[in-house]
Amino acid sequence: MIKKKIEEAFNKQINEEIYSFYLYLSMAAWFDSIALKGFSMWMKIQAQEEMFHAMKFYNHILERGGNVELAKIAEPKAKWETPLNVYEESLTHERHITGCIDNLMNLILGEKDHAGQSLAQWFVDEQVEEEANFSEIVDKLKMIGDHNPLLLMQDKEMGQRQPGLNPFFNTGTE
Ligand SMILES: [Fe+2]
Ligand SMILES: [Fe+2]
Repeated sequence: MIKKKIEEAFNKQINEEIYSFYLYLSMAAWFDSIALKGFSMWMKIQAQEEMFHAMKFYNHILERGGNVELAKIAEPKAKWETPLNVYEESLTHERHITGCIDNLMNLILGEKDHAGQSLAQWFVDEQVEEEANFSEIVDKLKMIGDHNPLLLMQDKEMGQRQPGLNPFFNTGTE
């Protein structure tokens, strides 16, 4: 049985992950609006991955006899200046999520919740990867600057990203 305190913290993290889904979907829509279809595809897949994260917490809460309680999702912004601007904000957002996961882990360690610790550790590792991925794209976009032919080449590369597992019907790792 999951402790109330931990159930609440996990429900809060579901909200953070679904907000991430919402933010990246909004970024995808902005990329679509300026015909950068590859960047849009990349962001849609990123959004899908965030829903997968939310569902990992959802499944964990239910498996341990807890209740999933969904709260209001904040409205994401809808317009950005440049692709670089989008990725810089995403990186800042991922760093915020890393902070949330670290706090979650501190709570879990304090409560000696071993099942929760295993889940939280998966997210600790995932955040290292997330920050590295966004950071690499920020660096590339800085190199590209305002050189449109290079930006279009990068758009093509971004469009190569492959979709992940269906977040609602898979519980494996991603
Ligand atoms: Fe996430
Ligand atoms: Fe993320």
